[in-house]
Amino acid sequence: MIVCSCNVLSDGDVRRACGAKTPPRTAGQVYGCLGCSAQCGRCARTIKKIMDEALGACAAGCAICPQTGNLLPVRAPDRS
Ligand code: FES
Repeated sequence: MIVCSCNVLSDGDVRRACGAKTPPRTAGQVYGCLGCSAQCGRCARTIKKIMDEALGACAAGCAICPQTGNLLPVRAPDRS
């Protein structure tokens, strides 16, 4: 199914980009991986949703994802 009409990208294209050795972290990086760039931007939320499905917790910004090498939990800033 076409998810980006400006660049004629399918959900399969986005999933393929997510399978790269260094997967994209943002919708903007997905465009770059696929050799294009955002035009109108209406597809960004859909692309992010597909990324979240394809990449799981890492795409959701998990701070303790072993795939990112970040094993330290994120703490709330000290506001005292
Ligand atoms: S629909 Fe994807 S940039 Fe316009």
